[in-house]
Amino acid sequence: MKIFAHRGASGEAPDNTLTAFELALEQGAEAIELDLQRYQDEIYILHDRWLHHCTKTGHGLLENQTPQDLAAVDAGDGNPIPTLWQVLELCAGRCQLNLELKAHDLLPVLVPLLERAVDELGWQPADLLISSFHHRQLAAFQALKPDWPIGLLISHIPLELPSMLGPLKVFSLHLDCSFIDKHLVYEAQALGLKVYVYTVDEPEDLHRLQQLGVDGIFSNYPARSREWLLSHIT
Ligand code: G3P
Ligand code: MG
Repeated sequence: MKIFAHRGASGEAPDNTLTAFELALEQGAEAIELDLQRYQDEIYILHDRWLHHCTKTGHGLLENQTPQDLAAVDAGDGNPIPTLWQVLELCAGRCQLNLELKAHDLLPVLVPLLERAVDELGWQPADLLISSFHHRQLAAFQALKPDWPIGLLISHIPLELPSMLGPLKVFSLHLDCSFIDKHLVYEAQALGLKVYVYTVDEPEDLHRLQQLGVDGIFSNYPARSREWLLSHIT
């Protein structure tokens, strides 16, 4: 089962920081999930558009910050809020990434940045999975980059999976651990989709998902979850 370090090794370091990503890499993570927000012509790694929700010292909306204020924000343990480019540099050749698009307006900045990451850092599209709850933005991304993998995030059990997928060519379905059942897993995998589940840290959940045969999980404790799974192979 694939384990994505959710916001890095965020159970042991401030989430979505270079420290959390480096720790995940040191622990041998094969994949890392991170949350993307846009500020002017830059992509930052930040879970929430409200800075006081997800940093130690920031206040207010991301879009209302001055560049100076933003640069001074402590995202935890003295870490600044990283840019996507910094993470792409840190992780190139070391792991896969799942870029979760949190904002509505990322593509004009994101797409050229990804093209640069391929040209200058050697990233392969297959190692950069783009996901979002914003399925229309994923459709727009796929129209621009038809060969890149996309993952649909949902937090519900849909009435009809095929109609939710529509015309999209979807690589993976990212499901909420609280809204998953064997029928949905079966249906998704029968359609050729990978099934990845967030956010999974508890042994009882790991056991259940192992029984359901999902393809991967997002964990805040990727090393601990991997250890548990390796010692409970069924
Ligand atoms: O991408 C999986 C998961 O991160 C989605 O929820 O709120 O933790 O970003 P959230
Ligand atoms: Mg996320």
